[in-house]
This record gives sequence, C-alpha cells and structure tokens, in this order.
Amino acid sequence: MSITVRAAAKINLHLGVGRVRDDGFHPLDTVYQAIGIHDDLSLADAADLTLTTRVADHIEADDVPDGPDNIVLRAARLLAERAGRSATGTFEVRKDIPVAGGMAGGSADAAAALVACDRLWALDTSDDDLLALAAELGSDIPFSLVGGTARGAGRGELVTPVDDRGAWWWVAVPASVGLSTPAVYRHFDVLRPDAPEVPASAEPLLAALASGEPVRLARALHNDLQEPAIDLRPELGELITLGEAEGALRGIVSGSGPTVVFLCDSAEGARETATGLAGAGHEVVLTATGPVAGAHLLP
Ligand code: C5P
Repeated sequence: MSITVRAAAKINLHLGVGRVRDDGFHPLDTVYQAIGIHDDLSLADAADLTLTTRVADHIEADDVPDGPDNIVLRAARLLAERAGRSATGTFEVRKDIPVAGGMAGGSADAAAALVACDRLWALDTSDDDLLALAAELGSDIPFSLVGGTARGAGRGELVTPVDDRGAWWWVAVPASVGLSTPAVYRHFDVLRPDAPEVPASAEPLLAALASGEPVRLARALHNDLQEPAIDLRPELGELITLGEAEGALRGIVSGSGPTVVFLCDSAEGARETATGLAGAGHEVVLTATGPVAGAHLLP
C-alpha cells in the first residue's frame, strides 16, 4: 500500500521576537499562514526505511539535506519509538517549497511524515499526541500540521487557529542560496541586545486580518527577523523595494528568510508583480494564495 500526504509552505504575517531564553530559543508571538506552495510526501510499505527526494526545477537538489538526519526520517523514527514498533517504509518527497528559505519546507515534510506514518502504520495517534511529537521535532512543525492561519506562542510550537476568511494573494521570491535560521536568530541577538522579554504583540495583525482588507493587512505585516536577515543579505532590502515598485502592496522577509513574500491586492495584482519581478531578472517567482490546509492525505 502507498499513500500521499500534502503539506504547505508557511509564511509569518507577524513575527514578534523577544529576548533569547535560557534554553537558547526565543519567545515568539507570531501569526502563521499556510500558502499554496506544497511538498508531497508518499509512503509505501517496505521492510526497511528509505528516503528519496525529487525537487522542482527551481530548487537545487544539493541543497536538500539527505542521510539519516533528514527531518522526515527523524519524524518517522520518533513516532515509531513512541508507538513501540520499528520505523519502516519507502518515503518519496517531491519538493516545491524553497529549501532553507524561511518557509518551513523541512517542517512541512516532517508534519507530512507524521501524518503518513500514523496512517500507514494504523496507529490512530490523537491530535494532541501528534502535536506534541511535532513540537519535539521543531518549533514550526505543529503549525505545519494545523495549517490555515494560526497564532503561535512559546518558541512557536503552541498553535491556536485564527478565524481567517480572507483569500490573500502572495508572490514569493526565493533566493538561490539559503539562510540558516539559527544564524539569523543569533544576528537578531547582536542587533537587539535590548530586545524585550515579551515579544511584540500580534493583536494589531489579527485586527487587520479580521478586516479582510489587503491594504490594512499590508500595513500590519511585521517581522522582527527582517532587520537581521537584511543585514546579512542586503539584496533582500533591494528586492522588497523592487516588488513594491512593481505593484505589490507590501514586501516582507518570510520568517528568517531569505525568501521575500509580497502581499498583493488581487490575482491580477499578483500577476503584475510577478511579471515585473521576473522581467527585472528574478528567475524564480512563485504565486500562491492563502490560507490553505495543513498536512493532509491526498485521495
Ligand atoms: O525549532 P527549530 O529546530 O526549528 O529551531 C531551529 C533553530 O532556530 C534553533 O536551534 C534556534 O537556534 C532557532 N530558534 C530560536 N527561537 C525560536 C525558534 C527557533 O532561537 N523560537
């Protein structure tokens, strides 16, 4: 038997970051949104545990971490260990989500792996237990399970769904070379030694989201990791300026970057912005709407 689970990329509409905690993580008040860029993970019965990855044309195959430390295999082993069985199956991941791009590509794959293993191994794990395993594996992985639009607290792993009836149009521009999430957080510590213990509140963003108005949402977008990401990669600032000149309402670094996402006012606005960015020499320009579902089985 073989099953396929689809998992979406995430962006952060609000990413408030507080002073680093004693455990090395940063307290967050964040609003995640799952958008329509996907990885598909297939899992088939097998006697041992293997993984192959196929990447979309816009991704460098060499950038995808393979070997036993791959997050998909770690997720499978963790769930198997908790269920008291061996981790077995042939995984194949088809990647469309930019790698090391601040869009939770690895987290999406891990969430998909948890859902796929739970189903193929007929474990019937409760949602709460799956969320707890996801949080052990990484801060963004619970959100990748939940999808939609959600507020994240703690180090990002405590996720509460948010009512979001908007259909928001995004243009995403990945960079050819990724940025390391820990490096961007470390640079945040250097630039913001005075960061408050309590991160900037997501309330204004939630109010803008509820209004359903793209112009209001654009104004409310906020990312405390944008300054460190741009300091490490100054061209990201130029890219934001360019996309806004090409018609986007607002550009913002996605999570820890280096992908930049642009909020547009409509499908037409997204097409125009994407065409303008491609015309200016950006080879990979993706268009997506959000919110979309979290990790789910494909029929
Ligand atoms: O949880 P995850 O494995 O995604 O985190 C990767 C790294 O990002 C952490 O080791 C830490 O350096 C940084 N991080 C952080 N604060 C967070 C989330 C991640 O400092 N809230």
